[in-house]
Amino acid sequence: MKLLVINGPNLNFLGIREKGIYGTEDYEYLKDLLQNKAKAEGHELEVFQSNYEGAIIDKIQEAYHTKVEGIIINPGAFTHYSYAVRDALASVEIPKIEVHISNVHKREEFRHTSVTAPACTGQIVGLGLKGYLLAMDYLTGRAQPAGF
Ligand code: DQA
Repeated sequence: MKLLVINGPNLNFLGIREKGIYGTEDYEYLKDLLQNKAKAEGHELEVFQSNYEGAIIDKIQEAYHTKVEGIIINPGAFTHYSYAVRDALASVEIPKIEVHISNVHKREEFRHTSVTAPACTGQIVGLGLKGYLLAMDYLTGRAQPAGF
């Protein structure tokens, strides 16, 4: 399966930024974690990060052209106000899971709103880096209960 992970602004600063919230593992660790899982399960995976809204929109549009079959996106702070990222997500009929490392609902009021989640298939919040792995399991069909 062809998968794409998109990380928004400041996620390249994992392991440096607010360690009490986002943990001590760095962005390279997250990339390796995802690539190792994809490889072990026989999936093709690109892990992309940008601090720029337009670059994220370009990547979502590119996913349409390159026939990506599943997107995992952590839009970072764009989650809370980027109608442009939301519209880009809504433009592509690809299964999409929004992931947040921290439990945004336990944090400041402005983080309680996601304008991007309604354009996604589902959302995983507050489970740390494991949220990305769980999103991958959902997209690849590994998260099926027995008998389904
Ligand atoms: C985040 C939560 C956002 O509110 C924040 O702006 C981020 C990271 C998370 O993964 O918990 O940059 O998306």
